[in-house]
Amino acid sequence: MLTLSDLKHIWGRVVFRYAGRNISAGNATRSRRFYNLIGKLYDWLYADHIYGYRQAALYMMDRYIESGDSVLDIGCGTGLLMEMAQDRARMMVGVDLSLGMLKQARNKLNHCEQAYLIASDCRMLPLRGGFDKIVSSFMFVILSQDDQKKVVNNLASLLNENGSFVFLSARDEFSPEWLTNDQWRSLCLQAGMAKVEIQDVYDYYRIVVAQKCVIPHVVEEKSGKNLVASDSDHT
Ligand SMILES: C[S@@+](CC[C@H](N)C(=O)[O-])C[C@H]1O[C@@H](n2cnc3c(N)ncnc32)[C@H](O)[C@@H]1O
Repeated sequence: MLTLSDLKHIWGRVVFRYAGRNISAGNATRSRRFYNLIGKLYDWLYADHIYGYRQAALYMMDRYIESGDSVLDIGCGTGLLMEMAQDRARMMVGVDLSLGMLKQARNKLNHCEQAYLIASDCRMLPLRGGFDKIVSSFMFVILSQDDQKKVVNNLASLLNENGSFVFLSARDEFSPEWLTNDQWRSLCLQAGMAKVEIQDVYDYYRIVVAQKCVIPHVVEEKSGKNLVASDSDHT
């Protein structure tokens, strides 16, 4: 007899195998139509009934969003990530192509004064910058490879010094649309990010964290001993 957990695993495998880019394949009009259509059902269909979706998102947000952060959520959908960060974030901006999805986000974040929602294509963002964290879950897979590069390059310019990308995706073993660790690394590094960390969680999910700038403490390594830069080096 199948349990609810078994069914959530099966549904997760189906979605990660066949969904992804196949649904909208880099076509913004198709993507907008699809998400407008399923906006009301999105949370129930995916976040609630794919094994580990909410848990992985919550783990990521709890771990990487710090108190006082300004947060930009790209492809915010129904506001899943923003809802999880609202108790800590100083300011949050969610961007999405689909009004149907944004309507759900607005209902969820109705009482959150520091949350702003913008209907926009992430390839033409009407934003200037100043974000500590740029988060995104399950959106890059929808873009073409060319657009992924352009969008990530632009996003890097919207980060504060020492700001980070915090992205949630699926592991690449399910279908070729999901980026491999190497692809994530080169995508972030080509945008000038300094350090990329990748962690797989809850069977299906991949968390990618890339830091904009790492202040170099170690200036030289000799005989196994680290030399640490300090003010006295200049005297
Ligand atoms: C799979 S859903 C993920 C939603 C949300 N991040 C979550 O995890 O619950 C992908 C979202 O990306 C949005 N999207 C797709 N292409 C986009 C684009 N070019 N610019 C902005 N948003 C886009 C869709 O409208 C949809 O809400």
